[in-house]
Amino acid sequence: MNYDSSSLNATDASAATTLLEIARRWGTPAYAYDLRGIRRQVDNLRRHLPAEVEVLYSLKSNASLGIAEVLAAGGVGADVASAGELITAEEAGFAPERIFVAGPCKSPEALSHLRSLPEAIISIDSASELELLAPENLANRAVLRLRPDFESSAVVTAGPDSRFGVPLDELSACRDRLGAGGPAIVGFHVFAGSQVLEAEGVIRHLQGALELSLRATDILGIAPEVFNLGGGFGVPYGPGQNELDLAEVGEALQGFVERAAPARIVLELGRFLVAPSGWYLTTVVGHQHYQGRSAVIVDGGTHQRIDFCGLDLRHKADPPLALDASSSPLTPTDILGCLSLPDDILAESCQMPALQPGNVLAFANAGAYGLWAAATHFHGFPPPAEIAFDGEMMQVMREPRSGRYILDGQNSILGGRGEIAECTQTRIEPECTR
Ligand SMILES: Cc1ncc(COP(=O)(O)O)c(C=O)c1O
Repeated sequence: MNYDSSSLNATDASAATTLLEIARRWGTPAYAYDLRGIRRQVDNLRRHLPAEVEVLYSLKSNASLGIAEVLAAGGVGADVASAGELITAEEAGFAPERIFVAGPCKSPEALSHLRSLPEAIISIDSASELELLAPENLANRAVLRLRPDFESSAVVTAGPDSRFGVPLDELSACRDRLGAGGPAIVGFHVFAGSQVLEAEGVIRHLQGALELSLRATDILGIAPEVFNLGGGFGVPYGPGQNELDLAEVGEALQGFVERAAPARIVLELGRFLVAPSGWYLTTVVGHQHYQGRSAVIVDGGTHQRIDFCGLDLRHKADPPLALDASSSPLTPTDILGCLSLPDDILAESCQMPALQPGNVLAFANAGAYGLWAAATHFHGFPPPAEIAFDGEMMQVMREPRSGRYILDGQNSILGGRGEIAECTQTRIEPECTR
């Protein structure tokens, strides 16, 4: 191992050996997840947050079955936003009464699954959805998502200008619909944004969400059982960013628990639980020059590790670890992805040792909104493998695939494959409305 271990913290240094072995055994590009790191984040939350606060894992940050299983076994609940995530949560072993089903679209498939999970709680996104769900006769209880009426402190904001949830001034319309059937409303859901690193910002969000929920309780005249206050807990990605002060957040939450009672407080966290434990592994395949700097091309790219919602990771994240590069002076280097896309840049002007084709680079903090938020089909590369490691043990979560994989599920038009039907509708010339 030739990377400069003096610059690594102890956790990264011990992961580096395993990461290189994963890259050599299963190839790159690949994602690798440190299961101990995920468990550590759960323990961290347990140590600092009041015991009464329930934590849900937001599968949208990483819906790998194996990751979901580890979190279910760790005792957290699940926040899901599609039929696929709901099915994964069920399969992973989350207790149905600890599953929240949110998002602005509940597909027929999701509704059908909800019928077999009557204990799961639905988050209703709008007055319109409240009306649409009424005739479904679901046995599930529901919370109403409220649009924040306070400014967001998040990097990825969801404040008063966001498109989600019911604005406070539309609540009376919802109250009028409560008697007209539909799921019983037992509380509220507020999410004000993602990637908040300052404890003060997180506390402002949680307090704003609680106050909004208490006001909504009075307007609807319900006896609330649950307030899902969101979370948005951030993680440091690079220099100048510090760990969130969980102790300060936990202390504030203690007061909120008392104010919310008898309703219980729920938080939904994705990034915080899984981002720090994920690594994106790529191999250098060649050299280039870009904007006067030396650059390398790697076999991965932004189609597999999207810079989600403008975090500007290519400038702000720590440089990747060069797992098997020879020691040499560090120089500013660009790391270019494998797509024919000018913007496919994984890191810009980051300090790297001299790199050669075949060297493996490991991008840290890649466990959330990496593969699971990415445009994986672009350019027809197969999806990367996903490998878990747990101390000395490694396990394949998603098999490495060949290029043929992209044909899976497609039918040949010329070969006449796939269902063929004749349109039975009488053709009427549509009036153009645009
Ligand atoms: C409604 C909702 N809940 C939870 C999350 C998870 O946020 P994070 O990964 O920052 O914890 C998101 C992320 O966008 C979200 O939109």
